Amino acid sequence: MRDAAPQTIYLKDYTPFGYLIDGVQLTFKLHPTQTRVLSRIQFRPNPEATDKTFFLHGEQLKLISAKIDGADITPSVTDAGLTATVPDAPFVFEAEVEISPSTNFALEGLYMSNGMYCTQCEAEGFRKITYYPDRPDVMATFDVRVEGDEKVLLSNGNPGVSGPGFADWSDPWKKPAYLFALVAGDLINHPDRFTTKSGKDVELNIYVRPGDEGKCAFGMQALKKSMRWDEYVYGREYDLDIFNIVAVDDFNMGAMENKGLNVFNSSAVLASPETSTDANFERIEAIIAHEYFHNWTGNRITCRDWFQLCLKEGLTVYRDQQFTADMRSAPVARIDNVLALRARQFPEDQGPLSHPVRPEQFQEINNFYTSTVYEKGAEVIGMLKTLVGDAEYYKALDLYFDRHDGDAATIEDWITVFQDSTGRDLTQFKLWYSQSGTPKLSIREEWDASSGTFTLHFTQSTATTPGQTTKDAKLIPIAVGLLAADGRETHATRILEMTKADQSFAFTGLSARPVPSILRGFSAPVMLDQNIDNARRAFLLAHDTDAFNRWEAGRDLARDTLLSMIRNDAAPNPDYLSGLHAVLSDSDLDPAYRALMVGQPSETELAGVLADAGETPDPAKIHAASEALRDAKAKALADILPQLYAENQVTGAYEPDATGAGKRALGNAALSMLTRLDAGEAAEKQYSTADNMTLQLAALAKLLDAGKGDAALSAFYAQWKEDRLVIDKWFALQIMHAKPQDVAAVTAKLTQHTDFDMKNPNRFRSVIGPLAAHHAGFHHESGDAYSLLADWLIKLDPLNPQTTARMCAACQTWKRYDSARQAKIKIQLERILATPDLSRDTTEMITRILG
Ligand code: BES
Ligand code: ZN
Repeated sequence: MRDAAPQTIYLKDYTPFGYLIDGVQLTFKLHPTQTRVLSRIQFRPNPEATDKTFFLHGEQLKLISAKIDGADITPSVTDAGLTATVPDAPFVFEAEVEISPSTNFALEGLYMSNGMYCTQCEAEGFRKITYYPDRPDVMATFDVRVEGDEKVLLSNGNPGVSGPGFADWSDPWKKPAYLFALVAGDLINHPDRFTTKSGKDVELNIYVRPGDEGKCAFGMQALKKSMRWDEYVYGREYDLDIFNIVAVDDFNMGAMENKGLNVFNSSAVLASPETSTDANFERIEAIIAHEYFHNWTGNRITCRDWFQLCLKEGLTVYRDQQFTADMRSAPVARIDNVLALRARQFPEDQGPLSHPVRPEQFQEINNFYTSTVYEKGAEVIGMLKTLVGDAEYYKALDLYFDRHDGDAATIEDWITVFQDSTGRDLTQFKLWYSQSGTPKLSIREEWDASSGTFTLHFTQSTATTPGQTTKDAKLIPIAVGLLAADGRETHATRILEMTKADQSFAFTGLSARPVPSILRGFSAPVMLDQNIDNARRAFLLAHDTDAFNRWEAGRDLARDTLLSMIRNDAAPNPDYLSGLHAVLSDSDLDPAYRALMVGQPSETELAGVLADAGETPDPAKIHAASEALRDAKAKALADILPQLYAENQVTGAYEPDATGAGKRALGNAALSMLTRLDAGEAAEKQYSTADNMTLQLAALAKLLDAGKGDAALSAFYAQWKEDRLVIDKWFALQIMHAKPQDVAAVTAKLTQHTDFDMKNPNRFRSVIGPLAAHHAGFHHESGDAYSLLADWLIKLDPLNPQTTARMCAACQTWKRYDSARQAKIKIQLERILATPDLSRDTTEMITRILG
């Protein structure tokens, strides 16, 4: 039995734990299969709790001994934890347990990765380390002794005494168990220092495996920039003498914000120009910032229970998005965020997995680290800031930090802070946390020439979602600007606050009918249903003064032309092609922004649009139309492509900065189109001269598209076979660029490769991820990809339920498709569900997806 019996946990059932903790002392005697964990915990009755049951979580632990106030006890033990009779007064609980890190492939609790010990405790992994009230509202200071032969022995907080074979650590800040961490290994350190705004000296370290020490410098710079940024923008300083980051190869997520000891997936911290793409550098900078920012939004102020996850994650994602916007280009960052939201959150919110930003029930909390909690949670913060304004936002944040420092807080606390600070009633706004589904916003325009009045009539509606049949009107901030017929902005952006299901807003005193630019900057996470023609869109693409909406106009044109190509075999819209030509020729526009303009809605997104319109998407047709539009763009832009490509070559040493990255992005976008015209000639040249991974990988991708990739693929493998992160890219690329009918076979073949290792989540995701992400390949009519995905999920589940469960989401859109495909997917989902001993994680996901 791997999991305790599945149980549904409800937000409404929250009660505080019966005991408070005055201190925790832990000793770890490390051993691959017989690690001993000794704990000593000072408990005292919690005056605010009525239920005095003394239950400590504990899973997969071998209890050696337990004591209360020094006397041996025999607690009652189940596979979920331990219950004991305790005094109605302060007491000391001690336990010794044995665990086996080297056989822990779930990568939760204490485990081993390449001979190094490491931990992952969020959300409920600490209970696999020792018996403890493993809930975020139980906070304590921890003193830890680590005993082992490894050169580096780390835990949270500040270092204490150390000597041969041991090291002491002491964390003066109260924290929940999920922020506990321990690392032990023969690691190499990349050290640095930081002086805080108030003059405190902080030691910074990035610890990596020998051989990776040359890939730490960028991460260290990102850390220092994050520390400075949080001081100046949010007034938050670091609060320990030391900040450690450790890179591990086997990690379920991107990274983890353990107090003073962040643990990172090596893919989220290690970087070098030769091995990392511009996108990797940008992601690393953002993740380092994100985990660092948690020190205040997550650690100093944590969550009362896991239903409040968005309190720390939504806010911290919002903060890392602000950081990226400040470090790089704000409009480009905003477009990237909205692209991610539409690619991940919208399908989630419009399918069987839809849930509120603050869920009200779950079986396995690991299944709720979702795009809705994270990205929609961040959008909610952004709307709040738009509604109250910048100054009031930062004032409210000061109050939040002041009032709740040291607390395990709730969304109610958060909203109350904003109400108290700004004087606004946020009752209706709070619906964004409790009501699931993506609102649809329809618009009708009315122009009254006689009075010079222009009126926008809005209607909002949200389709029903699992468990929620009635939807109330939300408070939607709609940013609107007005343009004149010659493209001049006549009315700067103004925020309309929509509070009713139907609501109209009038602009008066106009001399001519304006062109509105609506939902500027994507001011709310809604779907716009704007009945405007392509001429209007082309006008906005040429003139909108809001960078986001200008891009959006091009995107809408691309989407509409793709839809008519799919539905009616129409030819690509010439207005879109000429508009794109004009934008790409405009060298006043940022290259990164122009590169985004070249993009078009993904095949998955198009399938979603068709399904939303009540049609049945045909993956093969969608794929053909998408390719046809790419061909048409290449032809329409043929006269400017060589120059566009040449102008966007960066000379000199590679720098991962936004300017260089933008040029490379546009250069590579031009290369994509050129490849459709020159049969891969330019790509061959780029491949042979590339001195960085951004150019090398893009060239390899284009060679694969041109059907000329075989030699380069072998050369690439030979060049990089020792680098796990690069080989992950090598695996993924072959599947992403396979023909739809070959995707399943190519994937199956790669799973036989000697370098395929299902125990390593990065490697598993680099092979099985693209299988599910290749829309036309995954949904190929043979159904081969469905059964291959199911095979691998069934194989991985007993080892790593978390990663298995996350990858089930690939099937969340299954009801969009025709009955033949639905039947094929359903058989596979039912086959997974029927697997004996299936984990609680995967069981919950498949059950919800089946609906
Ligand atoms: N706290 C999470 C890591 C985590 C997630 C632990 C799920 C346990 C279960 C961390 O702060 C996080 O959110 N990491 C993200 C990256 C971030 C930039 C959004 C991740 O790992 O993907
Ligand atoms: Zn986070």
